[in-house]
Amino acid sequence: MITPHGGKLINRIFSEEEKKSLQNKISELKKIKLNKRQISDIEMIGIGGYSPLEGFMTKKDYESVIHTMKLSNGIIWSIPITLAVNHETADKLEIEEDILLVNQENVPVSVLHLEEKYFYDKELEAEKIYLTKDIQHPGVAYLYSQEDVYLAGKLNVIEKPVRHKFNEYYLIPDETRKIFEKNKWQTIVGFQTRNPVHRAHEYIQKCALEIFDGLFLHPIVGETKGDDIPAEIRMKCYEVLIEKYYPKDRVVLGINPSSMRYAGPREAIFHALIRKNYGCTHFIVGRDHAGVGNYYGTYDAQNIFLKFSSEEIGITPLFFEHTFYCIKCQSIASSKTCPHSKENHVILSGTTVRKMLQEGTEPPVEFTRPEIAQILIDSIKNKK
Ligand code: ADX
Repeated sequence: MITPHGGKLINRIFSEEEKKSLQNKISELKKIKLNKRQISDIEMIGIGGYSPLEGFMTKKDYESVIHTMKLSNGIIWSIPITLAVNHETADKLEIEEDILLVNQENVPVSVLHLEEKYFYDKELEAEKIYLTKDIQHPGVAYLYSQEDVYLAGKLNVIEKPVRHKFNEYYLIPDETRKIFEKNKWQTIVGFQTRNPVHRAHEYIQKCALEIFDGLFLHPIVGETKGDDIPAEIRMKCYEVLIEKYYPKDRVVLGINPSSMRYAGPREAIFHALIRKNYGCTHFIVGRDHAGVGNYYGTYDAQNIFLKFSSEEIGITPLFFEHTFYCIKCQSIASSKTCPHSKENHVILSGTTVRKMLQEGTEPPVEFTRPEIAQILIDSIKNKK
């Protein structure tokens, strides 16, 4: 089994004993209410999805990640994991104090042991992480909307997290590792996704299945931008697809509680490291991975892997060209396998597909399987 990032799988979920001792002091702790994205980062830290992180980044780690894509101890890490609060809140908190973190419904989720508070430079973070300061970029917009002070420190999650809509798919890294081991899989390829599954996705997943022992489908169910299709619909698409078209004994479907950043290349590294923690040996990086609009080049998210040695990253990226359906080949293909000109290629942008679905028109079967198109059309009708 592949070693988790940084050498050891982190578990920051309170034991029963720790939970009991928390009950004695919980009413005395200062409380901070967090948004869904902050809660999803806490979940990921707690279950070890972000190993080796044990909490929100200190200034030293944050600056090191921004400038060098490494934690201050030299381990690769490409995305800041930080907790922003306003300075009135920050002023009331003491260093070394335990703070109760609650969700929007006031349910206690986590205890943060405060190590440090620091100001940060939003423009610098935008430029380094998103490669743009454009407020139209959803990651930059979120960053600019954040409060001004970062709180740092190790944290614990109070309960093993639940997501009621998807609980049967809520597998933590320790559990997926056990499943892979039980299946006797030596090679496991991870697949990140935030979009409804289409034929090109299916093609690259099945190409990988031709070579590797198992496929781990790991859709993001944390926060995504407003016009992305909701996670429960995307999960339904996967359920149908697996039922009808996949070899069930070679695929594991599990949710990824974290939130999209749309940071393209930097996020591709981050996504790969997360899947390494879940036990994957390989990770698919296709066209404009984790990109949005025209902020990144088609293969920037692949090229960034070349900056690091394979020992440093640990998990092996699996690069795919931009794939499409070719009418002459009568199959999904890419410029690597298809000799025909562009007029023969069925390529639809996300915007075109969204428009078709909104009008109740099924995208061509070469693009989406009819069963999937129907789920998407129905979900849009129900929303109206
Ligand atoms: S992403 O934001 O999670 O990257 P999406 O769910 O669309 O978006 O993509 C999931 C994975 O499939 C990514 O690795 C992406 O690069 C890849 N991918 C999506 N569409 C294609 C395509 N037409 N050709 C090749 N790879 C693709």
